[in-house]
Amino acid sequence: MNTPPPPFKNPARGEKLDLCIRMRRNRRTEWSRRLVRETALTTNDLIWPIFIIDGEKRREKVGSMPGVERLTIDEAVRAAARAEKLGIPAIALFPNTDPALRDPEGSQAHNPDNLVCRALRALKKEVPDIGVVCDVALDPYTSHGHDGIMRGEEIVNDESVAALVSQSLNQARAGCDVIAPSDMMDGRIGAIRRALDAENFEHVQIMSYAAKYASAFYGPFREAVGSGGLLKGDKRTYQMDPHNSDEAMREVAIDLEEGADMVMVKPGMPYLDIVSRVKREFGVPTYAYQVSGEYSMIMAAAQNGWIDAEKAMIESLVAFKRAGADGVLTYFAPMVAEKLAKAL
Ligand code: PBG
Repeated sequence: MNTPPPPFKNPARGEKLDLCIRMRRNRRTEWSRRLVRETALTTNDLIWPIFIIDGEKRREKVGSMPGVERLTIDEAVRAAARAEKLGIPAIALFPNTDPALRDPEGSQAHNPDNLVCRALRALKKEVPDIGVVCDVALDPYTSHGHDGIMRGEEIVNDESVAALVSQSLNQARAGCDVIAPSDMMDGRIGAIRRALDAENFEHVQIMSYAAKYASAFYGPFREAVGSGGLLKGDKRTYQMDPHNSDEAMREVAIDLEEGADMVMVKPGMPYLDIVSRVKREFGVPTYAYQVSGEYSMIMAAAQNGWIDAEKAMIESLVAFKRAGADGVLTYFAPMVAEKLAKAL
C-alpha cells in the first residue's frame, strides 16, 4: 500500500514544512566535501623559518624542536633551493650567534659580515628568486637576551629604535627582501621605513610583528637561537599582554600608519581571534607565526603516539586560513609543501 503524500503546507500561513534539513548530505562524499570547501591551504601561504649557524656542511638538531635543524650557510642555501622547488615563496632567517660574540649592546647586529648578512649574500647569489625575510631585534646578539638596549633594568625605547634602524639597513645592504621587526619597540616601523627610503631601499618590504605577545610558547625557539639561558627576566615591558585584543588593533593601526606593508600576529593558534579581527578590521596582508612551542607541542605528542603529526599539522594550518591569515610562518613549511605537492 502506498503511503499518502504529505499534506500540502503553506509557510505563508505559518505552517511548518515537513522538510528535514540534512547538513550531512554535503559531507557524504570526497568530491562533495571538496566542492563545498570554503578555504584552501596552498604552498603560496608558507614562510619557512630557518636557523643558521657558523661553519660548513653542518646540520645540528634542535633538541626542543624534533625535525628542525640549525644549518650552516651552505646547507641553508640547499634548503632554500629545495624550498623554491617546492613552491614556498619565502624563508625567514634566524641566526644562532656564537656566545663569545654577544655583548650588552648587541653590536654584531651592525656587523656587515655577521652570520645573517653572509647568509643573505649567499642566498641572493645562489637562489635569487626566493623571498628572504629577516628578523629585526637584538636578541640573537645581546648577552642579556633582550630585543633592545638595556639601561639598568630598563629596555630603553628610543636608543633601541636607533639600533634597530642600523640593523635593518645592515640587512637591506646585504640583500634582505623583507625587514621583519619583532622587537615591539614604539615607533620603529616609521623610523626603519624612513631610513630605508633615504638609502634608496624603497623596494624593501616591511612585515611588522605588529601584535606580538609575551608568550610562553617561544621557549623552544630561544633554545634554537641560544638566547634562552641568557634571558634576564622576561619581555613583558615591550611584548603584549595576552589578555588584550583592542590593544592589538591599536598596534596594527599604528604600524600601518608608519608604513608596514604586512602585519603579523604572534603566536598563532592561541591568538586566532586576533588574526581574525586584524583581517576583518584592516583588510591588509595579515600573517600568523605558528611559533616554536606550537610546533613542538604537535611533534612531541606525535612522538608519544598521541596525535597524528601530519593531520594535526594540516589542520592547524588550515585553521589560520579559516581565521583569515594570508600566510603562516611555520616550521612545518617544507613538510606541508611536500604533502601538498603529492596531493596534486
Ligand atoms: C625574537 C624572536 C622570537 C621569536 C621570533 N623572533 C623570540 C622572542 O621574542 O623571545 C619566536 C619564534 C618562535 O618561537 O618560533 N625577537
